This record gives sequence, structure tokens and C-alpha cells, in this order.
Amino acid sequence: MACEVIDSPGAAARTAAISANTRCVRRGRHGQSRYRCRPSRAVARRGLARHLSHLLQVTDLHVTLRTARGAAAALRELSFSLQRGDTVGLIGESGCGKSLTALALMGLLPEGARVSGSIRFGGQELTTLAEDAMCALRGARIGMIFQEPMTALNPLHPIGRQIAESLRLHQGLDAKAARAEALRLLERVQLPQAASRLDAYPHQMSGGQRQRVVIAIALACGPDLLIADEPTTALDVTIQREVLELIAELVAEDGMALLLISHDLGVMAETVQRMLVMYGGTVVEDGPTAEVFEHLAHPYTRALFAARPRLGLARGTRLATIPGRVPELADLPPGCPFAERCAWVVDACRAALPAPQPVAPGHSARCIRLREIAAAAR
Ligand SMILES: Nc1ncnc2c1ncn2[C@@H]1O[C@H](COP(=O)(O)OP(=O)(O)OP(=O)(O)O)[C@@H](O)[C@H]1O
Ligand code: SF4
Ligand SMILES: [Mg+2]
Repeated sequence: MACEVIDSPGAAARTAAISANTRCVRRGRHGQSRYRCRPSRAVARRGLARHLSHLLQVTDLHVTLRTARGAAAALRELSFSLQRGDTVGLIGESGCGKSLTALALMGLLPEGARVSGSIRFGGQELTTLAEDAMCALRGARIGMIFQEPMTALNPLHPIGRQIAESLRLHQGLDAKAARAEALRLLERVQLPQAASRLDAYPHQMSGGQRQRVVIAIALACGPDLLIADEPTTALDVTIQREVLELIAELVAEDGMALLLISHDLGVMAETVQRMLVMYGGTVVEDGPTAEVFEHLAHPYTRALFAARPRLGLARGTRLATIPGRVPELADLPPGCPFAERCAWVVDACRAALPAPQPVAPGHSARCIRLREIAAAAR
């Protein structure tokens, strides 16, 4: 692996978005410069068994962040797994830890974050992986689509060059082959007049077109896992469906695993086989999407469901809301994170984080009162 300075301090401070898919950006010794890591393909593929089982296995993951009010537990006891071909959704209100989960998988947590537990990907332990090997996995084996395409793209470079960059870095293609492949990818994501758009800049495209470019970059190296963090919330509602359908189609064609982050239950219902409902930095309900929708075990999942916007409500009908708000990291209680907002709370809920309780085969929820809640719903 070699690192070279690619941006000066005055250059646009793009987020880790583009680095996630094309390059590895790390601040220099004095935070004055950025570096590009050029890993070998051998590093990227070393130890990466592309067999069917357990592509990703997250076990008892804890992440502690430094905040203005001291160290705070941002992710707690997080466990889930994905195989190739699985589509899994992460859903929850703003601030519940969805993006941090994605950043933990990508090795892009904020500086000073402390991690314990395990993230195994293709047989490799990521929490202890050297930065050059992690850098090689990003973009090559794990692709990421971010919410806001404008921050994920470099406004100073034509889009064809930005797609080609990933191919040259991770696949070693020469300039001509990378450009040809960039065109093929743009056609694959159904960008209209792809050939003539290769030299267009991001600002010359609509939001939906830019998101197609970001998807093309994420798919460029044929990742095994695609993470899409609210990929459509910055888009017009008419485009949202098209982009989601495109992602679902591409994932199915390539047989990769999809981790889709959203706060939209409708998106989950239509796109993923399995749902992880997050609250307070942990998964409070986990199960096959249809099964979760049918049984709605955890009070938080029930509240989310009740608060979803619906067509056909009588005029003047008030939408249900969830009382209170998601706690700040530093205010997370030691017990059930939903206790302050839960209508079913009893003293025992505040004692310790409830362990996942079985609801049905493959379906569990972190709540100590599941039986009473289910009985009351009958
Ligand atoms: N760099 C950071 N330093 C301190 N706290 C952070 C940092 N990044 C995120 N947090 C906090 O961690 C919690 C989870 O944040 P995260 O971005 O994962 O939420 P989210 O579920 O993705 O929300 P949204 O739907 O708004 O994107 C929030 O309380 C947030 O304020
Ligand atoms: S453990 Fe208690 S506070 Fe938490 S969701 Fe269940 S009933 Fe509500
Ligand atoms: Mg987020």
C-alpha cells in the first residue's frame, strides 16, 4: 500500500463518502492534508471467502464515542448477520445509530471511537484489520451509497472520471478500459444518454441522475456487500421509487448482500427480506419483514407503525406520534433505551438492557413485557 497527498487543506472538504467507494482519505499528521491509499488487489481479496454463508457477521458490537459530555455508548450489543443474496433493512428514528452502524462496518468511525465485539466479513475480522487492508475492502468488496449524492461526488471532476478512478484504484484498469467500464456502468444504472454524460460535472445533473452515478461508483468493483444509507431521502418522491427499484434490481442481478438504511416502513416492506429495528444504539426487534409487520412485537416498532403516514385517512384525522424524543447519547439510560417513551414501562425495565426475547422462529425483540403486550393486542 502506498499513500500520496491528493488534496490540499483548501480543497473542498468532501466527506468520507467518496473515500468509502474509491479511495481512502485520512487526515495528515497535522490535519493539513489528505492521503490516497493504493492497495494491491491481492490485499483486497486475501482471505475473502466468497462462499454463501456468513458474508457479514456482527457480534456483540459496542461503539463508544467521545462527546462534549464525555464518552458515550453509541452502539450497544449489536448482533446481526448477512449472507450473499440477503437484503436487510435497518430502520429507526433519527439519531438511533443507523449511520454509525454503517460507518462501523466501513471502518470509518469518528476519531477517538472505541470499538469492542466483532465484525467478521468474508472470514476477516474488521475491528482489528490494518488500515491498508480495510482501505482495500472499501469500494472493492463493500460499496456504499450515501444519502446526499452531491456530497458523495467531487464537484470538480467529471462523473466518468470519478467512476473510472475507483476502477483504476481497485481493479488496476488502464485509463481507456476504465472509461469504457464507466460507460457500461452508467448504462447499467440507466442514466439517459450515458455516453454523452461521461464528461458532465455533477452540477449539470439532476438529483436522481447524480444518485445513479453514486450507485454506479458503489457497484464499480462488484462488491459483495452494498450498504445504502437513506439513498433516496434527498430525492424527489417521484424519483425515490425508481432509484429504490434500481438498487433492488442490481442487487438481485449480482447476488450481493444489501444493507438498506431507511426510516420509511414502506421502503422496508417493499425492498428487504429482513428488518432490524434500531433504537438507542441497539437492535430492539429483528425478524423477517413480513413476520415483523404481522406481529409488531416491540413497543417501539408498534409506535413506529402507528405513526406511519397512510393514504385514505378521514379528513382531520390526527396522525399518531411517538411521545418524547430519541435520547442524546450521553443521556441513554442503562436499561431499556425506550423506557422514557414507553407506555408499558415498569421499574424492572430500567435495570439493564433487555436481552433479545424470541417472538417466533427467527424473530426476536428486546423487551421484558412481550407476553403482556401481545395479550393486550389480541
Ligand atoms: N462524530 C460523532 N460524535 C459524537 N456523537 C455522534 C457522532 N456521530 C454521530 N453521533 C451521535 O450518535 C447517535 C447516532 O447517530 P447516527 O448518525 O448513527 O444516527 P442515524 O440513526 O443515522 O440518524 P439519521 O436518521 O438522522 O441519519 C446520535 O445521537 C448522534 O448525535
Ligand atoms: S422493556 Fe419495558 S420500557 Fe422497554 S420496551 Fe419493553 S415494556 Fe417498554
Ligand atoms: Mg444517518
